[in-house]
Amino acid sequence: MKVLVTGGLGYIGSHTCVELSKKYSVVIADNLINSEIEVLDRINNIAHSKVIFEKIDLRNKKEVAFLFEKHGDITGIIHFAALKAVGESIEKPLLYYENNINSLLNILEQVQQLNSEINFIFSSSCTVYGVPLNLPITEEEPIKKAFSPYGETKQICENIISSSSKLNMNLKSISLRYFNPIGAHESAAIGELPLGKPQNLIPYITQSVAGVRGDLTIFGNDYNTPDGTCIRDYIHVVDLADAHIKALEYLSDKEFSTNEVFNIGTGKGTSVMEIINSFQDCTGKKINYKIGGRRKGDIDATFADNRKSLNTLSWSPRYSIEQALESAWNWEKNYREISE
Ligand code: NAD
Ligand code: UFG
Repeated sequence: MKVLVTGGLGYIGSHTCVELSKKYSVVIADNLINSEIEVLDRINNIAHSKVIFEKIDLRNKKEVAFLFEKHGDITGIIHFAALKAVGESIEKPLLYYENNINSLLNILEQVQQLNSEINFIFSSSCTVYGVPLNLPITEEEPIKKAFSPYGETKQICENIISSSSKLNMNLKSISLRYFNPIGAHESAAIGELPLGKPQNLIPYITQSVAGVRGDLTIFGNDYNTPDGTCIRDYIHVVDLADAHIKALEYLSDKEFSTNEVFNIGTGKGTSVMEIINSFQDCTGKKINYKIGGRRKGDIDATFADNRKSLNTLSWSPRYSIEQALESAWNWEKNYREISE
């Protein structure tokens, strides 16, 4: 199988390409808006592979048509490419609608013109659930109004894929709703590379410990949780990568067109305070922190009911939270050339 991976040089895409290229031939399409070209060599070095790279802006219809003309023999697509900063999406909503929705539309337009079957995986997010009514969150949880234009693009894209699957008998599709991806490949050669000041907890912690950032601010300790800090479901990025491969295999075995959604999380919630303690325990590094006010839009707790993925995709997470945190720190050390 030849698989097109959009956004394959990004954080989750690069880890998925490493796993994918062990079994499949892989073509990455990325415009490098949030990634570095050197990641390509790193993927190929880790996996001893020859992943092909096409510098394509997926917003550009002509470039996308060229991509499909050149690689008309693809049978799988994993669509990671998107802008993902929640805060930025509130400041620049049009940029987010344009990038995230038009990229998908351009790809699906090409898929429609293919005469062959396509197994399509879309990167969605647990943000589509908004404030959940029930915990853990099942896939049956009602979709509520999104908090941000970013979240809204995920909801809209899921709907577009679902409508397209109903009409295109060659399209078999899955939206994977990721919870909180963290960690890095065991080689420490690829990992999360946020532009500027990290907005997410783990890269902020690793950069703070590396001395690149100041003390961590815990955004609120007055939430309705046992220790007052927010609870999330943190999933190792290599486990998440594996879920994409299992999802592709599941679709390949399906005889007819389908459109399904799956939660990808560990099923276990961990608070910000528990993350800090685990990180300190498993790395031996101290995190300096202070308690700040709540961050707008944060909710008390989210964690997945992942039984549908476990039972249907024959997938299960292998890494513990400690292994994920240790790998995140190893990546930071390697990237900053910190020796201990
Ligand atoms: P990332 O920014 O590291 O990777 C995205 C990649 O897509 C980048 O390499 C970027 O250059 C590329 N890209 C963006 N727009 C493009 C365009 N128009 N044309 C071509 N390439 C383009 O992000 P990530 O963390 O790897 O996330 C991957 C996907 O998973 C995204 O769709 C994101 O919304 C989703 N997701 C991420 C998280 C998370 O916490 N990281 C959580 C839930 C869902
Ligand atoms: N946090 C801090 N200090 C920081 C950063 C984060 O206390 O400096 C806290 C947050 O308040 C939250 C927890 O750490 O309680 C996790 O925050 P992240 O920003 O790492 O993760 P979120 O759950 O807020 O958001 C993530 C992705 C979003 C996605 C969402 C749901 O970043 O893109 O999951 O999928 F929309």
